[in-house]
Amino acid sequence: MTDRSRLDGQAAFVTGGGGGIGRAIALRLAEAGVDVAIFDIFPERAEEAAARVRERGRRAMAIAGDVMDSDALRSGIDRGAAEFGRLDILVNNAGGVSARPFLEQSERSMRKHVDINLMSMLVATQAAAKHMVAGGKGGAIVNVASIEASRAAPGFAVYAACKAGMLSFTKSMAVELSPHAIRVNCIAPDHTITPGNQGNRAGPVDPATWKARSGEEVDAMNRLIPLGREGIDMECGDVAVFLASAMSSYVTGILLPVDGGTWASSGWVRGQNGKWTLNEGLSFGH
Ligand SMILES: NC(=O)c1ccc[n+]([C@@H]2O[C@H](COP(=O)([O-])OP(=O)(O)OC[C@H]3O[C@@H](n4cnc5c(N)ncnc54)[C@H](O)[C@@H]3O)[C@@H](O)[C@H]2O)c1
Repeated sequence: MTDRSRLDGQAAFVTGGGGGIGRAIALRLAEAGVDVAIFDIFPERAEEAAARVRERGRRAMAIAGDVMDSDALRSGIDRGAAEFGRLDILVNNAGGVSARPFLEQSERSMRKHVDINLMSMLVATQAAAKHMVAGGKGGAIVNVASIEASRAAPGFAVYAACKAGMLSFTKSMAVELSPHAIRVNCIAPDHTITPGNQGNRAGPVDPATWKARSGEEVDAMNRLIPLGREGIDMECGDVAVFLASAMSSYVTGILLPVDGGTWASSGWVRGQNGKWTLNEGLSFGH
C-alpha cells in the first residue's frame, strides 16, 4: 500500500522554522521527504534547523529574516522556490505575544502584534500561493494559530484577535484558492513546550536555561489539560504533515486543535480531588 503521508520531492517554506513548533514542523516535513527553506529572525537558529533537515537526507536552505519585513519575507519565499525549483507547502508559524491589560497597551504594541501574527501571514500566503498556482500542482498552507483563535484571552486580547483573524483568513483562502487545488488549514496548539513558551525568545535555543516548573505548577497544568500533560512541539509537526499530505486531501478550511483536549473541555478541569469541575469549590451534583 502506498504511504499517503509521504511528501517525497516536495518543497516547503516555514516561517519561524529555527525553533519550537516551526522547527518541529520543518523536521517532520523533512522526514516525510520534503526539502525545506527555513526562515527565522535568528540566523544561527535557521542554520541549526537546516542542518537537522540535511541530516534527514533532504535539501535545506537557511534564510535569516524578520517576518515583519515584508520585502525580506517575499524575497525569502522567491529564493526558496528558486532553489528547490518548486513550492508546495507554506507554513505560517512565526508569531509573538506579550501579556498586557488592553487598556494599558500602546498602539505601537498593537501594531506589532498585528504585523507579526497577521500581516506576515497575508504577505507570505500571497507570495507563496503565486508560486503554487504557477507550478500547477496544487499545494498546502498550514497556519499555526492557537486555541486563542476561538477563546477569550484576557491580557492577550490583540494576540487572540490576530489568531481569530488567522482562522477567518484560512477559511476565505480555502475557498478562494480551491480552484488551484491549494488546501489551507490551521492548527490550534495550546500549552506546548517550546523555547518561546519557556522564555528563551532570543539567541541560541538552550533548554539548559529553561526554568523547570515547580511540582505545583506541573500539577495545575496537568489538571487543566485532559490528556494530563503539556504538548510536545513534534506533535504539532505530525499534524502539520497530515495537513500537508494526501492523508488530508479532502480537508480544507479547518481549525484543528492540537491541545490535549483543552478546547473540548472548555473550562472543565480536574479538581484537587481528581473529579472534573468548572470551578473548585462548586458542586455540580455528582
Ligand atoms: N508554544 C505554545 O504553547 C503555543 C501555543 C499556541 C500557539 N502557539 C503559536 O505557535 C507559533 C510558534 O510558537 P513557539 O512557541 O514555537 O515559538 P518560539 O518562540 O519557541 O519559536 C518561534 C521561532 O520563530 C522565530 N521568530 C520569532 N520572531 C520572528 C520574526 N519576527 N521573524 C522570523 N522568525 C521569528 C524565533 O526565532 C523562533 O525560532 C506561534 O505562532 C505561536 O503563537 C504556540
